[in-house]
Amino acid sequence: MLSIAESDLGTPAQTSTELVTLNIDGQDVTVPAGTSVMRAAALAEVKIPKLCATEQLEAFGSCRLCLVQIEGMKGLPASCTTPVAAGMKVTTQNKQLADIRRGVMELYISDHPLDCLTCPANGHCELQDMAGVVGLREVRYGYEGENHLSAKKDESNPYFTFDASKCIVCSRCVRACDEQQARMCRSWTPNACPAVPVYRPAPPPPCPRKH
Ligand code: SF4
Ligand code: FES
Repeated sequence: MLSIAESDLGTPAQTSTELVTLNIDGQDVTVPAGTSVMRAAALAEVKIPKLCATEQLEAFGSCRLCLVQIEGMKGLPASCTTPVAAGMKVTTQNKQLADIRRGVMELYISDHPLDCLTCPANGHCELQDMAGVVGLREVRYGYEGENHLSAKKDESNPYFTFDASKCIVCSRCVRACDEQQARMCRSWTPNACPAVPVYRPAPPPPCPRKH
């Protein structure tokens, strides 16, 4: 597993021998077919903001921070879930994208405790980093109404603590548990708040992968 300090290209490397050339912010980039736009950009040293993507896991496309503009394509696709195509022209930075990314971060932070100074993750927190990257300065929504700010921690598992007040539902924990550990001891609540991953108490189900 990468530490937050190491560079993470956002989605896994592809092994195809077929190469595809596209243009990202005016720069031609050639990558194996099947590579995501996010990874192609990262290989060209163009950083696209992201929260749910990591090269350790398959792309999931939940945080919507990595939206880009692609010539001829409707809307603003997520760069982590969009594969490259020959001749594609991608824009990763403009005012519209900056406004949307800041708006997305604002929503995340509006349901997140403002305890950075006492939080153990202070200084090595991707949420904090991305808030800085997108230039978030204020949250206009206030902190009234329904939220998860006082949600209790689940400390029942000897290996991890789940703090629902800080969860942004990126699903990395659930996906890592599924794709890498193959234990599936974390999952999404089926009928309750869809925003809270739940710990399924021990014993975990038998490992479905053959070793
Ligand atoms: S608890 Fe899981 S889903 Fe929630 S922010 Fe952390 S890694 Fe993402
Ligand atoms: S990084 Fe692409 S949607 Fe989260």
